[in-house]
This record gives sequence, structure tokens and C-alpha cells, in this order.
Amino acid sequence: MPQGKMLQVGPTGNVVLVTCCDKNGRANIITVGMCMPISIDPPQVCIGIAPERYSHDLILEQGEFVVNSPSIVLKDKMHLCGIKSGKDLDKFKEFGLTPIPAKMVRPPLIKECFGHIECEVVNRVKCGDHTLFVGGVLSASADEEVLVNGNLDALKAQPIVQKNYVYYTIKDARALP
Ligand SMILES: Cc1cc2nc3c(=O)[nH]c(=O)nc-3n(C[C@H](O)[C@H](O)[C@H](O)COP(=O)(O)O)c2cc1C
Repeated sequence: MPQGKMLQVGPTGNVVLVTCCDKNGRANIITVGMCMPISIDPPQVCIGIAPERYSHDLILEQGEFVVNSPSIVLKDKMHLCGIKSGKDLDKFKEFGLTPIPAKMVRPPLIKECFGHIECEVVNRVKCGDHTLFVGGVLSASADEEVLVNGNLDALKAQPIVQKNYVYYTIKDARALP
């Protein structure tokens, strides 16, 4: 299999919208498939961002980001945030998304997303053609409608899962006995 295609048979993954901002507080949104929890105690999440992305240096310089989880109804806006650069436009305005202030960091939350994780960068690793930013979680919140007993219910939240830029969501749940 050619090197450039080797990951296409790998795992599917959630897609998130990461917010960041410049030194003047101007906010940006980047679509990110490379996102996962990496530590439970202390809580940490990591994101892989290519150095050529406008967002890369915002996160590098400001040391903060927010992981916003969109549901499948936001798939078109999520895709647009993943093909347009914030260097050229305001993605909040252009794509009809609403910034709301975060509790602990300067980048805003995206109101239309069901979950928000506010992070400060605590570690950074160069991995091939991406930089892995590890974020220490400072605050986390989710809409009441997607919670059951305080836990996220993925059937209610309808997160976006992608493989090779085809977007899916979760339609079934099998709890272990
Ligand atoms: C579904 C999807 C997933 C993506 N995942 C990533 C990713 O994990 N890391 C990354 O650097 N770029 C990823 N991208 C590409 C960026 O979102 C895209 O280059 C974006 O326009 C960069 O925005 P910026 O220049 O405003 O930072 C993804 C794009 C799409 C559509």
C-alpha cells in the first residue's frame, strides 16, 4: 500500500472543532480529526495540528485551546472550518457559529456544540508532519440534553465520526450486561 494511503484502513475517529485565538483575542476555529484523551488523572487531551495551519502558531504562541464537540447536524459547517483558513476570514461570522466566553481560557466556546473542554498546553511533541499538543483540562461542560446521570450519552449527542472525509454518526448502543 502506498505510504500516503496507509492510514486509510486505520481507525475511524471523532471530529472536533478546536478554537484558539491570537494575541489580540481574535478567535479562530480549526476542524480536527486527530484528537483523543491521553490522561485521566490529571485530565489531558491531545490534538495533532500540522505546522502549516494558521491555528498551529496561535496554539503554539498563546498556549490555549478549546475542544468543542459538534453533533452531526453541524457537519457542513464543520467541513467548511476544515477547508478554509482563518488567516483569510472569520469562520464564526462566515459559517454562522456563535462564540461564547470560556471560563478559564481566552479562546471562546462554540455555542452550537454540545461539549466543551478548555485546555492549556502542558506538552508538545513533533510527530512527523504534525505537532501533538497536549492540553491540561481546566474546565469541561456539556449541554444538559446530552447527559444521562452526568455522563455523555452518545446516542443523544450524535457526535461526528469520520473516515476519509465521509461523515457518520452513532445510531446504536450495546451496553455490556
Ligand atoms: C474532517 C477533517 C479533519 C481534519 N483533521 C485535521 C487534523 O487533525 N489536524 C490538522 O492539522 N488539520 C486537520 N484538518 C485540516 C484543517 O482543519 C484545515 O487545514 C483548516 O482549513 C485549517 O484552518 P486554519 O488555517 O484556520 O488553522 C482536517 C480537516 C477536515 C475536513
